[in-house]
Amino acid sequence: MDAAVIVEVGPRDGLQNEPGFVATADKLALIGRLAASGLSRIEATAFVAPKWVPQMADHDAVMRGVPRRAGLVYSALVPNVQGAAAAIAAGADELAIFTAASESFCRRNINCTIAESLERFRPVMALAAEHGLPVRGYVSCVTDCPYEGAVAPAAVTRVALALRDLGCTEIALGETLGRAEPGRVAALVADVAASLPPERLAGHFHDTGGQALASIDVCLAHGIRVFDAAAAGLGGCPYAPGAKGNVATGRVARHLAARGFRTGIDAERLAEAEAFAAALRGAG
Ligand code: HMG
Ligand code: MG
Repeated sequence: MDAAVIVEVGPRDGLQNEPGFVATADKLALIGRLAASGLSRIEATAFVAPKWVPQMADHDAVMRGVPRRAGLVYSALVPNVQGAAAAIAAGADELAIFTAASESFCRRNINCTIAESLERFRPVMALAAEHGLPVRGYVSCVTDCPYEGAVAPAAVTRVALALRDLGCTEIALGETLGRAEPGRVAALVADVAASLPPERLAGHFHDTGGQALASIDVCLAHGIRVFDAAAAGLGGCPYAPGAKGNVATGRVARHLAARGFRTGIDAERLAEAEAFAAALRGAG
């Protein structure tokens, strides 16, 4: 049986969009349940500016409080070296930097151009290397931008290669709006996969239009085996109005199992974690 990996992004991508502040203890309780389900990678929080994303303001306490288990990697989303230094000090095992294939989204999300974002990441990469940490790079808006519309695959490949050149171990293709038809995802993945091996890629699909599992199938056909998901489909992006959460973790786990992939996840425990996540929605 082949292995596939689910990266749980609910505590970050899911909760970042919750309108009311979710208590740190609840975030940690969610992460604890997710950890107990056998997931091997969890994006625990984001070391971003609290005035931009207030929900992640407790990043330090969350990263310091996560339950550790051998083989379980906790990553932190970081926009700059300030965030990277804080994430490393708090015990992050992996960093995730993020930019976009669309200038307008990049500007709204991290207040700089794509080129400036890549320059900003250089000291992040140097710091991560000093500490021996892997860095994932996200490209947002891989098919569509909320402000510019359709995005050309070649623009995504250019940014993905720039992140690879910076030293990212994995490039996550972010379908931020979650509305792309699988045919458009296929064109995008084919373009990127012509330049980067599938082992370096991950699929990050929001599920606004209910097409995320079909997009995952497109990725599987190209040999991609790493997929992001959020417990109970929590979330969205504060800078992509109307976009829904990532595809739900349980749905992805069942989908991968049905296609013969081993994920190491205990379905019952994951269901408990997802019930807890669903109860947090709107409860803050
Ligand atoms: P800025 O305002 O241009 O930056 O924001 P600045 O350098 O002028 O700093 C402004 C203030 O923020 C200063 O504080 C800094 O100290 C502070 P003040 O002097 O005003 O008190 N600051 C920080 N505080 C904590 N941690 C930091 C940090 N950096 C600066 N790391 C910045 C630029 C990038 C910081 C800001 O735009 C930001 O934090 N953006 C984050 C946006 C975000 O988190 N978006 C959601 C995540 S991305 C996403 O969801 C997409 C993804 O899921 C993939 C997909 O679906 O496509 C990944
Ligand atoms: Mg996202």
